Amino acid sequence: MLTRRSFIQTTSGAGAAALAAFSDRGVDRVLAAGRHVEGVAPADVAADESYWREIQQAFTLDRTITNLNNGGCCPSPRVVHEALKRYLDISNQAPVYHMWQILEPNIESVRRRLAASFGCDAEELAITRNASEALQIAQLGIDLKAGDEVLTTNQDYGRMLDTWEQRVRRDGIKLVKVSFPVPPKSMDDLSTRLIGALTPRTKVLHFCHITNLTGQIFPVKQICDEARRRGVRTIVDGAHAFAHFPYKASDLGCDYYGTSLHKWLLAPIGTGFLYVRREHIPSLWPLTPAGASRTNDIRKFEEIGTHPAANHNAIAEALTFHEGIGIERKSARLRYLRNRWATRLGAHARVRIHTNLDPAHSCAIGNVQIAGIPTGKLVARLWERWRIIATPIVHAEYEGVRVTPNVYTTLEEIDMFAGAMEEIASKGLA
Ligand SMILES: Cc1ncc(COP(=O)(O)O)c(C=O)c1O
Repeated sequence: MLTRRSFIQTTSGAGAAALAAFSDRGVDRVLAAGRHVEGVAPADVAADESYWREIQQAFTLDRTITNLNNGGCCPSPRVVHEALKRYLDISNQAPVYHMWQILEPNIESVRRRLAASFGCDAEELAITRNASEALQIAQLGIDLKAGDEVLTTNQDYGRMLDTWEQRVRRDGIKLVKVSFPVPPKSMDDLSTRLIGALTPRTKVLHFCHITNLTGQIFPVKQICDEARRRGVRTIVDGAHAFAHFPYKASDLGCDYYGTSLHKWLLAPIGTGFLYVRREHIPSLWPLTPAGASRTNDIRKFEEIGTHPAANHNAIAEALTFHEGIGIERKSARLRYLRNRWATRLGAHARVRIHTNLDPAHSCAIGNVQIAGIPTGKLVARLWERWRIIATPIVHAEYEGVRVTPNVYTTLEEIDMFAGAMEEIASKGLA
C-alpha cells in the first residue's frame, strides 16, 4: 500500500514521468493517475496537486475565465464530449438506421450502469433530459384531487415550485412551503420542520437532497421514513446530488428521485434520470403519454418522441470518467476547494458564510455574502474585473454569492476568487 510519503516520492520522480506518458487525452490518463493514488486516503489525495493536474488536463476549457458556477451546468471532459460528437456523426449517416437501430438500443447499458451507481434496480430508472423533466413527471403524474396538500420548502427550486403552483391553479391542490434558517441549527431541525408541517391532508412531501441556493444537504432518510409511516409520498430533488458526494438509493428511502447528469456527473447537456420505487410505477402517469401496454414499464417515461441518442449514450463515458476518479476522492477534493475559499473569507469581519461547512451538511456548494454590498453588484464586479463567473442568490430571507468549483478548478482560481472577495470586502465597490 502506498503511504502518502511514498506517493509523493513516486509522483514527483519516475512516477510523474509515467503519468505524463499517459498523454493520450482519454480516460486512461485519469485511471493511470488513480492507480498512483490507490490506498491513499481521499483526504490526502484531495490536497495532491499532481493528481488533480491530470484531471484538470482532461477538459477543454476557456481558462481566460474562472468558472465558479458549476452548479448551473458543467463542461464535460474531452473524452465525454468526443463520444457525444462521435455518436452524432454516426447518427447523421442515416438516422433511421444508425441512430434508431444501432445507437438507441444501447440506452439499456446506460440504464444498467446508472442504476448500479445509484443503487436501484434498472427497471426503476428512466433516463430523462434533465432533473426538471424527471421531477415534473413525478409532480404532474401523481393523482391528486382538490384539497390535497403538497408540502415543500421555500428554498426548493423555482421551476419545481412553479410546477406545483400550476397544479394549485389547475387542480385546486394546496401547496404549503416551510421556511428554514441558513445555515440550519441541525439536521434534526430540518427534519422536525418538515415532519411537523405534515397534516392528515398531506399527500406528497417534496424537498431537495441538497439545495441549489446554499448547498444544504437534507437528512433525507430520516424525513422519508417518517413520511412513509404516515402514508405520504416523497419526491426528492437530487438535481445537485448525483455524482457529487457518496450515497445510495437505500440511504434515501424516497419514492421518487430526479437528478440532472449535466451537473456533477459531467455528462452531456440534456441528460438526467428519474427513479421511481417499483410499486409506484403503474400508478404514475408519464408526462408524455404512453400506450396502456407500457403501464408497468419504467420506459413509459421515456416516450418523448424523436430525440438524439448521442446525449444519453455518452452518459456511459461520463460514468467511466467519474468512476476513474471515484466518488470519495471527488467529494473530498470538492470540499477541499470549497473550504479553501470559505475558511479564508470566513475570517473577514464583513463576510457571512451561509453554508454549514460540516461535511455532513454540504460539499462543493457554498454561499457567501459581503455585508452591506448588494450581491448582484458584487457578482457583476467579479465578472467585470476578474472574469470570475459566480451566481447571485437573492432569496426573500437572505442573499449571497453561490460558489461552485469543480474537479477541474485550480487552486490558483480559488485563491484569485478569495483575493477578489477580500479586496471588495475591504475597499467596497467604489
Ligand atoms: C435544486 C434544483 N432542482 C432542479 C433543477 C433543474 O435542473 P435542470 O435545469 O437540469 O432540469 C435545478 C437546476 O439548477 C436545481 O438546482
